[in-house]
Amino acid sequence: MRQKFIAGNWKMFTETAQAKSLAQGLKQNLSGIMHRIVVAPPFTALALVSDILQGSNIGVAAQNMSNLEAGARTGEISVLMLKDIEISTVIIGHSERRQFFAETDALINEKIKLALKHGFDVIFCNGETLAERESGKEVEVVTRQTKTALEGVSAADMTRITIAYEPVWAIGTGKTASPQQANDMHKTIRSVIAGLYDQTVANSTIIQYGGSVKPDNAKELLSMSDIDGALVGGASLKVEDFTAIAKFDM
Ligand code: PGA
Repeated sequence: MRQKFIAGNWKMFTETAQAKSLAQGLKQNLSGIMHRIVVAPPFTALALVSDILQGSNIGVAAQNMSNLEAGARTGEISVLMLKDIEISTVIIGHSERRQFFAETDALINEKIKLALKHGFDVIFCNGETLAERESGKEVEVVTRQTKTALEGVSAADMTRITIAYEPVWAIGTGKTASPQQANDMHKTIRSVIAGLYDQTVANSTIIQYGGSVKPDNAKELLSMSDIDGALVGGASLKVEDFTAIAKFDM
């Protein structure tokens, strides 16, 4: 059985006061929940949110990191800096990083390997654009993204990789992939993993769905055979909404 894993990606939202009240609200609402829960605040709120969630069952992740440990890279955040503030989970390859910051599959692969080298858990995002889906290329694209991202990643390290399938056309648009569409792609990704490693690794890999997950569609999505969790953007910014998603089965 794969443990359900619900992550909240706060993106470039939340200043101190909002981050604080969100973290406090979730800490209270989600105590005792059996699913794995992580929130990813912006860098400026990481230390604060970590402090608030200390000793709770909610983990804290960074939304990105550099592919270098250190260097002249103005504006970047290093894995060592995250480690220094006791962060050990990172989202890598989010479609907004690909789209607005020109991140390539090869760069994402470098980041994943660096994160693993430092003992991090990784949420690796993949997903096709609307144009790619409309031209029937979604399987090809997601397969390529997955294979390149995982180049040089050992089977043992796969226990620390979560895959978040996020069709770009469903992110922030209110348009969700149907549970069947999402589940089909999750099965495809699982078979890619089986090809790269073996069926045991494939069966234990957690694959989240992301893209307009809301309280009213979470249960249906998360009940599908191959959907093991959710990466939630917009709805993770409201205590009640993220609570309802995390408690989709209660
Ligand atoms: P959304 O974002 O839930 O607002 O669509 C999901 C994501 O980008 O991780």
